[in-house]
Amino acid sequence: MVQQGTVWLENRFPTAFEAYRVHLSEYYAPKNFNWMYFFGSLALLVLVIQIVTGIFLVMHYKPDAAKAFESVEYIMRDVPWGWLVRYMHSTGASAFFVVVYLHMFRGMIYGSYKKPRELVWVFGCAIFLCLMAEAFMGYLLPWGQMSYWGAQVIINLFAAVPFVGPDLAILIRGDFVVGDATLNRFFSFHVIAVPLVLIGLVVAHLLALHDVGSNNPDGIDIKAKKDASGKPLDGIPFHPYYTVHDIVGVSVFLMLFSAVVFFAPTMGGFFLEFNNFIPADPLKTPAHIAPVWYFTPYYSMLRATTDPMVNVLVGLVAAGGLTAILFGGFKTQGKVVIAVLAVVVAGLLKAFDAKFWGVVVMGAAVMILFVLPWVDRSPVRSIRYRPNWNKWLYFVFVVNFFVLGYLGVLPPSAGGTLVSQVGTIFYFGFFLLMPWWSRIGEFKPVPDRVVFQPH
Ligand code: HEM
Repeated sequence: MVQQGTVWLENRFPTAFEAYRVHLSEYYAPKNFNWMYFFGSLALLVLVIQIVTGIFLVMHYKPDAAKAFESVEYIMRDVPWGWLVRYMHSTGASAFFVVVYLHMFRGMIYGSYKKPRELVWVFGCAIFLCLMAEAFMGYLLPWGQMSYWGAQVIINLFAAVPFVGPDLAILIRGDFVVGDATLNRFFSFHVIAVPLVLIGLVVAHLLALHDVGSNNPDGIDIKAKKDASGKPLDGIPFHPYYTVHDIVGVSVFLMLFSAVVFFAPTMGGFFLEFNNFIPADPLKTPAHIAPVWYFTPYYSMLRATTDPMVNVLVGLVAAGGLTAILFGGFKTQGKVVIAVLAVVVAGLLKAFDAKFWGVVVMGAAVMILFVLPWVDRSPVRSIRYRPNWNKWLYFVFVVNFFVLGYLGVLPPSAGGTLVSQVGTIFYFGFFLLMPWWSRIGEFKPVPDRVVFQPH
């Protein structure tokens, strides 16, 4: 009976059955996935949590500057289970970034962005941009003090863009200050426009991944060794092996997620800032405005870009140009081009306000991720077979990112600014000098087959 039903369905909807085979039961994934490979499916889970809880929030939320704050309070106090839906959504936002940062880091250390997965990575970076836009606009909706003033500060940054800046800021706000028009357009983007793009990108991300096949902790191409029937020797069907494996990740994640939702939904002010429990007041600026934790590393880089920092950047451009001219092995024509470029960049740096360059630095910190597949010249993918000192370098990269994040939470101070300036230079140096450092050192021989200890 069941078999007959299946045949009936397959005759009428073969595409669905084909998709099941291609993406699940006959998608051969490397058998050596470790826990770092949980985060892709966890990101999918959080996406679903955000969409489902979001749908229920929209049923009771009012996108109106006069009613938004009280409608959130109504959800928290009067709507049955409203508090749970709201806390799941607010915790979900932070969980999304925790999971996605770990997912990206996994990609970095196993060289998953390298050929032939460049597009998988590029779609991922576009997803990351969308997530940031989604989180930023969502944070305005509760219309608390931090919603209001955070949006005010960030939108005002666009006013620093030369020539068009002030008009651009008005265009984004729809008013001269953040107001009802801003709330309405952010609501519209947050609930429909950005999620649609996000879902489209996630689909593209997974289709591109399944076309080329997954990487693994060894960075070995499993398609190079196949059995007589054409299946990779080191591959196992995604379903049932990894669907079951992922249940472990999902269980641990849900335990941690519930612990936060039920016992620490504000996470000490990191997930929901205390000032956001006060209704937005356009006449009262909070003493200290800080974005939510996932934006603070970039916020630190913005604050690090002061006038003296711009001078240091001019010095670095000059030093970089000179090194390329003297030691780059370029012909006379190439040397002239480099010299002209260096003078133009240094001139531009001095021509515009440091505040504008701060915005550029903040944007560039995210955009630079897109070029990773092309700046990494290492002959191997995985960190396992790279020179040992690479591990230290990635460790310092992570510590630096945390330090920048921490400083971004604190009010500005002279010492903090100096540390974040050094951190910003390290962050960009890591990527810009990668074509050079990723090639040097002693690489270990990469085995023919993946390394796997059954457990
Ligand atoms: C909503 C956000 C995202 C979702 C739902 C998502 C989903 C997934 C899934 C399900 C996989 C396969 C399982 C795995 O390898 O963990 C995957 C792989 C991958 N993702 Fe994402 N992803 C997201 C964001 C990102 C971002 C922001 C990046 C990088 C900027 C990225 C880069 C990659 C790469 C390079 C792979 C291949 C990894 C490998 O084969 O080793 N993803 N993603």
